[in-house]
Amino acid sequence: MNINVIKGNSESFDSDAVVYFQPEDTKWIKDSLKWYGEGTPLQQQATTMLAAGDLTGRKDELIVLYPAKKEMRSKRMLLVGLGKPEMITLETVRRAAARAAKKTVALKGKSLGFFLPEVKGSNGAEIANAAVEGVLLGLYKFDKFKKKTEKPITLEKLTIFCNDKDIYGSSFKEVSSAIDRAQVICAATIFARDMENEPSNFKYPEVLGKWAQDAAKGNGIKVTLFGDKELKKNKMIGILAVGEGSAKESRFIIMEYRGAKDKKAQPIVLVGKGITFDTGGISLKPGAGMGDMISDMSGAATVIATLKAIAELKLNVNVIGLCSSAENMPSGTAARPGDIITYPNGVSAEIDNTDAEGRLVLADALIWAKQYNPKHVIDLATLTGACVVALGHVTTGMMGNDEKMKTQLKRLGDKVYERVCELPIYDEYDDLIKSDCADIKNVGGRWGGAITAAMFLKRFTDYPWTHLDIAGTARGETSTDYINKGGTGVCVRLLTEMLTEQAGK
Ligand code: BES
Ligand code: ZN
Ligand code: MN
Repeated sequence: MNINVIKGNSESFDSDAVVYFQPEDTKWIKDSLKWYGEGTPLQQQATTMLAAGDLTGRKDELIVLYPAKKEMRSKRMLLVGLGKPEMITLETVRRAAARAAKKTVALKGKSLGFFLPEVKGSNGAEIANAAVEGVLLGLYKFDKFKKKTEKPITLEKLTIFCNDKDIYGSSFKEVSSAIDRAQVICAATIFARDMENEPSNFKYPEVLGKWAQDAAKGNGIKVTLFGDKELKKNKMIGILAVGEGSAKESRFIIMEYRGAKDKKAQPIVLVGKGITFDTGGISLKPGAGMGDMISDMSGAATVIATLKAIAELKLNVNVIGLCSSAENMPSGTAARPGDIITYPNGVSAEIDNTDAEGRLVLADALIWAKQYNPKHVIDLATLTGACVVALGHVTTGMMGNDEKMKTQLKRLGDKVYERVCELPIYDEYDDLIKSDCADIKNVGGRWGGAITAAMFLKRFTDYPWTHLDIAGTARGETSTDYINKGGTGVCVRLLTEMLTEQAGK
């Protein structure tokens, strides 16, 4: 999509739709009537609607008006409500922009323009970023398998107007580079969504490896893939055990981006769970809802897409991406409950339940991460149903040993609206994963399931580490304004924001 910011007004702009964002504030709306053109039919119409109580600026309001050519060159005018002025945040803008874009496309419009609404406490660059996110992420669809009866309509052009040098405290140039940055990050988020939504007959560990290579093309990321041979050589015992039951070979994916001035500066390592389908294995899952397990590789999708984004943004930071990928299937060659595996760090683990496969494959990556002398390791995994029970689909579960990183992720999660909520990892929880026959077991019983999964991972970390359980947030059950049902690409925006800050230091 062609997105730009121009100096100019909406009247002279020729597009399929021009949006006026309206706070729920009668005085504001009354004052804004002057922009419609003195005595014009458009102004009369708005005045009548206001008097009738049909133009309020309420959060879900979306009114379409049709200006005459001499009033405004654009075909349509959309009045999009923002809700109570004191409640307007960047998230309000994302959602309102998404609704405006969807409505425009529903009316077969291809071009859209608007002035940015005001958001207290945010500058023009941040507001533009949110608006672009709303539009691009809101228009996302996964429809490549659907028969196309007619050529699909897409928004081709988005124009942000400004009539001043100063756009809520940002310069023209700042707004325009915020737009460019938002486009890169949204494209990466959409790439993650596409990977998540791909059905598992077309998506297996080898394919995930190819996607990582695609993501790395031409932007300086080095990719190394381990197949069976290398997995065995490097004793990646968890990935091998989980992949044993599948006809498809497993993969360990290494992506290295060294963008810092000092290529040897301690990197941040991102680890992703890449189970391309999770049947549960011999501890087979019940049938209902099993189809959702196509996106049990969302952690890996986020890692791959984030590396792509930061490399394209040329962030001044060193980042390593590690993805453990396998398909968890039941078969005559699959691992059994009761099997014991011993990791190269000496820790033995009883596989009490083959459906707790995520932690088994992540352990290999967490051990592997150590050789990079990481500044910090963040793992992302659709790890536990227990996390979804605790937090629903609203927020990601966060556990870890580094207060500074947790505080940063909390703050940035609120900002980009990919929120994280901390769960504790107190020593007492360790008792729950004690095994009779091995050092630890891979399930912790009925209670505190998100935490006992983290306690397992903790055994393989001896560096600053954060675990993000995205089981609830990686997949939407219902669509909201800019998050579709299905894969959400969650945490691409959060991690890119965090790495942008880290790069600035
Ligand atoms: N991939 C699942 C977790 C999951 C559940 C993700 C729902 C997204 C939505 C994971 O591999 C799993 O099966 N976990 C088990 C662990 C249990 C056997 C200890 C679970 O949560 O039931
Ligand atoms: Zn799983
Ligand atoms: Mn499982």
